[in-house]
Amino acid sequence: MLKSINTLQIERTMIRMEMKTEILPASDEKSIEKAAALLQNGELVALPTETVYGIAADARNGEAVKKIFVAKGRPQDNPLIVHIADFDQIYDLCPSVPPQAKQLAEAFWPGPMTMIVPKGDCIPDEVSCGLDTVGIRLPSHPMARALIRESGVPLAAPSANTSGRPSTTTVAHVMHDMDGKIAAVLDGGACGVGVESTVITLALERPRLLRPGGITLEQLRSVLGEVDVDRALYEKIGDDVKVSAPGMKYRHYAPKAPVTVVRGNPQDTAKYIAAHIGDSTGVLCFDEYKNIFPNCIVECFGSKDDLGAQAREVFDRLRAFDDTEVTQIWAQCPSDEGLGLAVANRIKKAAGF
Ligand code: TXA
Ligand code: MG
Repeated sequence: MLKSINTLQIERTMIRMEMKTEILPASDEKSIEKAAALLQNGELVALPTETVYGIAADARNGEAVKKIFVAKGRPQDNPLIVHIADFDQIYDLCPSVPPQAKQLAEAFWPGPMTMIVPKGDCIPDEVSCGLDTVGIRLPSHPMARALIRESGVPLAAPSANTSGRPSTTTVAHVMHDMDGKIAAVLDGGACGVGVESTVITLALERPRLLRPGGITLEQLRSVLGEVDVDRALYEKIGDDVKVSAPGMKYRHYAPKAPVTVVRGNPQDTAKYIAAHIGDSTGVLCFDEYKNIFPNCIVECFGSKDDLGAQAREVFDRLRAFDDTEVTQIWAQCPSDEGLGLAVANRIKKAAGF
């Protein structure tokens, strides 16, 4: 097809505008300073946290925040969480901090928990997507906190993956999805928790768990007493339904091949999968069963009894299938106790429930 000169000029400009994503190593003492300068300039920088990597922008700068949605291909109605380095920064973002927020922060911050609270005026609509609340998180990763402090601003940061894909827990994952789309990535090695933060809202009548994560439901209840669980954790929510956490309604964490989850006693689910596999099948299984699926691409994500390993490995293993020719994936899955609730949620969402 013939292209007009104008179209060609636009295409050339776009190619020139594609940026080179710089990897900023932890060993270089200038890395945090460089990353902070980029953020202050309205650029995007991926940063390590204890949960997963995030793509950060200055949360007060609506134009910078818009770029996050472009880089990720993120739906416009899915709000971002804001990261702070010290508890007192919450008062800049939220005019009336609920007493329960203080209790939770005392117990679990710094750490893998995000609280949804009423938002203050300094949060632009680009962050909150029109909601009157904002998610706030105080991460424990030293590089994340150093970057927030050095840049001097709260950082809006969703997980650093293309929307719909598994989250990123290494710099290699971030570069796979974001190379050329963000200015830089701060290299903090592999993330320790591996699944995203727990999201709890304090903006409803009763506290409600919106996303299970690094802090367990049992831990939340030990501090607050009763905590409700959002129905989006257990069922697929239609596009037309109004949900508490907009992110929960989208297909998520998905490798390219469709995933089928088999739940139950690990010994039984392994046997069931072994009896159903065919050609070009992939299997996501606990370490104990890796040898019982002949002629399959097998990805193990930790021992059946080691939920910490399962959380750390699950996204990396789901991503690994994309380098293979598998056309379907069968998956084992832990039960819903403790961190198992978060791991199982990610695997079920990868399967579209
Ligand atoms: O561990 C984490 O939380 C990572 C790291 C980078 O901190 N971040 C992360 O962000 O997972 P994201 O955007 O991938 O997931 C945030 C979730 C989404 O499901 C979003 O819909 C929900 O939190 N959320 C954000 N703001 C909200 C709000 N005001 N009300 C309800 N849900 C909200
Ligand atoms: Mg995400």
